[in-house]
Amino acid sequence: MTIKTLKIEIEEYESSKALPEKEHMLLEKAVEAVNKSYAPYSEFHVGAAVLLENGEVISAGNQENAAYPSGLCAERVALFYAKSQYPDVKVKSIAITARSDNFSIEGPLPPCGACRQVIAETEKRQNAPIDILMAGEKGPVHKVAGIESLLPFTFYEEKLKKKNR
Ligand code: THU
Repeated sequence: MTIKTLKIEIEEYESSKALPEKEHMLLEKAVEAVNKSYAPYSEFHVGAAVLLENGEVISAGNQENAAYPSGLCAERVALFYAKSQYPDVKVKSIAITARSDNFSIEGPLPPCGACRQVIAETEKRQNAPIDILMAGEKGPVHKVAGIESLLPFTFYEEKLKKKNR
């Protein structure tokens, strides 16, 4: 038996203002995108902003539904929209934040597992990592340079290769 240890690198910034200018601006877009959230059930309003290689910024809020599982996280709304509108343009980074009157969101908001999986496949498809910026209503901002730090041992499409084909 051997024990393997993984090292994860996270950049921590004191606040959004401490980020490099471009990243600060992207996070601001995510903050604005909280207003696009439709979350009457959870009252947990998430905003995500995706920066594409062509300079375009796609932003989205989480979209809920009375049939709860029918809703979708802000990150996936933004990433799926980006892929639909700009199928051949790479995603460079994604900024995520949230606001709520009922919950205190003090630390950086990490993407949920399903969104991590979608970020992973986006990276794989474009063969380039995606910077992920995570912020709460207050407190520090975290940045990771690629999904590997948030989702090691990823399930990729090559696991779906059929036998004898
Ligand atoms: N949510 C997101 O939009 N992104 C995440 O990464 C975590 C959760 C949404 C889903 C649901 O609408 C609400 O936040 C509460 O879970």
